[in-house]
Amino acid sequence: MSRRFESRPQTADTVQKSDPRRVLLGIGGGIAAYKGPELVRALTARGFEVRCALTAAALEFVAPLALQTMSGHGVRVALFDREEEGQIDHIRLADEADLVVVAPATADLLAKMAGGHADDLLTTLLLATRAPVLVAPAMNVNMWDHPATQANVELLRERGVSFVGPDAGYLACGWEGAGRMSDPAVIAERVEALLAPRTLAGETVLITAGGTREPLDPVRALTNRSSGKMGFAIAAAAARRGAEVVLVAGPTPLPTPDGVKRVDVETALEMHEAVATELASATVFVGAAAVADFRPERRAAHKIKKESLGGSAGDGSLELRLVPNPDILAEVGARSRAEGGARVVVGFAAESRDLRAAARRKLSQKQCDLVVANDISRAEAGFESDSNAVVFVWPDRDDEVLELAPKPAIAGELLDRIEALRRERRR
Ligand code: C5P
Repeated sequence: MSRRFESRPQTADTVQKSDPRRVLLGIGGGIAAYKGPELVRALTARGFEVRCALTAAALEFVAPLALQTMSGHGVRVALFDREEEGQIDHIRLADEADLVVVAPATADLLAKMAGGHADDLLTTLLLATRAPVLVAPAMNVNMWDHPATQANVELLRERGVSFVGPDAGYLACGWEGAGRMSDPAVIAERVEALLAPRTLAGETVLITAGGTREPLDPVRALTNRSSGKMGFAIAAAAARRGAEVVLVAGPTPLPTPDGVKRVDVETALEMHEAVATELASATVFVGAAAVADFRPERRAAHKIKKESLGGSAGDGSLELRLVPNPDILAEVGARSRAEGGARVVVGFAAESRDLRAAARRKLSQKQCDLVVANDISRAEAGFESDSNAVVFVWPDRDDEVLELAPKPAIAGELLDRIEALRRERRR
């Protein structure tokens, strides 16, 4: 068994507080090493504790002091440095890691890993650790394509090493092709995914997210300020926990989270149809979308010209007749209840006043198991914001007030509750 530290420091906004959170970052000697501090930042922002081990060549490309400052820990380079080993010996460094990331991994480092070499600190750590290893290669395209490198990659994959990238693009060496190290944010996301406990394996989570767009004519539409961030954070977190995730998304530039099936829609009617198609296999439904309650009765085939508007008073005004859209959540709630209630149904309530009373009304009207209420009058929460302050409103227990937290952390809290409900219902 690996030895472990007895006490593990926790950070305030970790999504699952009992998660493994220690990452050993190995930095190889390539130009992409300059992104090391950014990667440390991306990892610490997610609540990971990061320690860095560099190859001697990496020192040419990145300042150890920058890594030390960002990680809050001393940086290791030498295998047999008496002072450094006195503080924490290298085997312990390998043992205590919950995951090792090598970024950038050069062709030479991949060859050494494949060959089982241990002639410096980083290669020794890689041989000694029992933690999962994630590798982000970066090199010249011809070095990456070389059969020797590809054979090493193949071998490492067979041994269970995970890879992220390399991406294609312009390379520092002047060539164009595969060889760029993946973006630090993408690497950090993979780290999170590899370490997340797969507590939603076997579940299918259907989520609506973003606003809808209800066209008036080919140019104009009625829409709202929903960014989709909350729903996308729930989708990403559910996928990390091993669920099958279907994300029905209104128009938003947000990237599709890893491992998520995305269905893009524009109008409430399209969202309604997509949900109807996907619902049968869903064990969990989360309605995080800001669905337009109304749509223009008619969609003009051509752009409405102001010259053509008489207005009822002959004053050039335009009267719009709006008709109601289907309430997707209410239908899902009713259908789930009729089917026996095994599916967990969660709604959202965004209100600027009487928040909890409105959420409680929605809970019963829409037959939800839980309504997540958020006060959109707070500047730092709600629409477009990266953080949210919510209250979980339940049919049969006290409201739970959550502190202001990043949307991914709220997503984690919500999924903890959903998991507990599903466990009860499977029993
Ligand atoms: O009634 P209200 O729009 O405030 O309810 C919010 C909740 O209902 C959200 O979960 C939202 O996704 C859902 N909803 C829906 N279809 C609608 C309107 C709201 O699914 N037409």
